[in-house]
Order: sequence, then C-alpha cells, then structure tokens
Amino acid sequence: MKNVFKKFAAIAIVAVVATTGLVGCGKEESSLDKIKESGKLIVGTSPDYPPFEFVISENGKSKIVGADIDLAQKLADKLGVKLEIKAMDFDALIPALQSGNVDAVITGMTPDEERKKSVDFSDIYFKGENAVLVKSEDADKIKSEDDLKKSKIGVQKGSTQEVYVRDGLKLTDFKGLTSVPDLIMDMKNGNLDAIVLNSKVANINQGKYDGIKVLENLKLTSGGEEEAMAVALKKGDNEALLKVLNEEIKSLQDSGEYDKILANAVDLVSKEEK
Ligand code: ARG
Repeated sequence: MKNVFKKFAAIAIVAVVATTGLVGCGKEESSLDKIKESGKLIVGTSPDYPPFEFVISENGKSKIVGADIDLAQKLADKLGVKLEIKAMDFDALIPALQSGNVDAVITGMTPDEERKKSVDFSDIYFKGENAVLVKSEDADKIKSEDDLKKSKIGVQKGSTQEVYVRDGLKLTDFKGLTSVPDLIMDMKNGNLDAIVLNSKVANINQGKYDGIKVLENLKLTSGGEEEAMAVALKKGDNEALLKVLNEEIKSLQDSGEYDKILANAVDLVSKEEK
C-alpha cells in the first residue's frame, strides 16, 4: 500500500515538473495562436455609435450591427474563426481587453499616444473628424472654438473627445457621460450646450433626434479635429495577428469594400428610424 502511494507521488511529481518545464522553456503562445485555438474572436464594443456600432431590433430581438461589426466579421473570417461580440460601456473596454475578457476592441477607437502605452493598435481603418452637436435653437450661438469654450460641453467618458476638451480646450467644467444617447438626452433636457463627437455619428444623430444640429462651419483645432479608428489589442505577442488584421484592413480599403460596408451601415440606420 505504502509503495503504491510512493509510486503515485513520484508520477505526480514527474508530471508537474514536465508540464511546468514545458511552460517554462517554451515561448509564450502568440495571440494569433490563442485565437485560432479557441476557434473564436471575442470583440468588445460600445454599441452607441451609429453607423459604426448600434443596436437594432430584428424579429423582436436586439442585435448589434454597424460598420465595425461587419469589419469584425471580416477579420474573424480571415482568421478562420467565429465572431463573438460583447457589448459594454465605452470606458470598460480597455479594462476588458487587459483582463483578457475580450481579444480585441473594435469601437471607433482612436489610437492615441496615451492608449498606445497600454494597448496595441492595428493600422487605421477609418480617418474621420470631430464635429459639434448643439440644440437647433443654439446653432448661431457657437461660431468659433472660443465660443465653444464658453459653453457647457458634454463628451463620452473615457473618449479622445474628453481628452480634447480637457487638454486641448483646457476646460475643467465639462461633463463626461457613459453613452452618446445619454449625452443627447442631457442636452435636450437643457443640461448641456454642445456635444463633441465624430462627425458621421453626429450627422446620424441629427437625423435621428428632433431639435439638434451639427455645426457645419465650426472648425475644431487644439488637437480635437481628428477621429481616426483602429482595432485595439491587449499588449503582447501580436505580431502575427496584426499582420493578418492589417492585411485584411488594407485589402478592404483598396478594394473599396470598406466604403460599401460603411454605406450599408448608414442605410441600416435610416431604415431603422422609419
Ligand atoms: N474615437 C473616440 C475614442 O477613441 C470615441 C470612440 C467612441 N466609440 C463608441 N463606440 N462610443 O475615444
């Protein structure tokens, strides 16, 4: 009996040494291998940003759609894996990436220097710009960035628009809210004068809600003009994965397919409104 026990213990020790030994000397698995092995690409997104990501109802069920979702599907197809979308608040996405809850974040995220310290980015798949949304009756009040500075501004929490208002316009008295619809409601309720957000998203919202208007002639400077978008990944061995993603992004762009994806998403928003 005792001998049998000893034998078991010996085998167990050998097994532990063998596995830890393997992990210890082998190179850590690349993110591409990990995704391929799991058979799915888990993408985090904040679906409050039409036409990039938004929610529609289909046969009584809600569904997350948009240009970023189509892009995510193309990337998953290219990787030969299934796509799983996880919706969450915008400011929860980078933490979700870092904790390994999602493999990638595709949510109109701008690859700025601050974020590059904590996550990796693909090449840019969309180069947009920011715009300012106001109540229609205020459309003549804000003519310059200086006028904007005197207004009560709302931005999405954790966004580059927040960085622009805080560091570019050097304001402390602005409001950061979790989602874009929350911002619009807050402005309609009279608590905000202006919202800074992507011009495409701003235009879509102008069509969606009554009484709000995009300031067409207001030029933003102070670092708030651009709204580029890229796929974010947890920092790590992403070389092989980024190669696949960047190749697919380039091919979608060169073939004009990305423009179609975006146009379809815009169509989908307008259908949803009727
Ligand atoms: N481009 C901005 C940023 O990276 C805003 C993105 C907001 N995206 C969203 N799905 N709400 O911060």
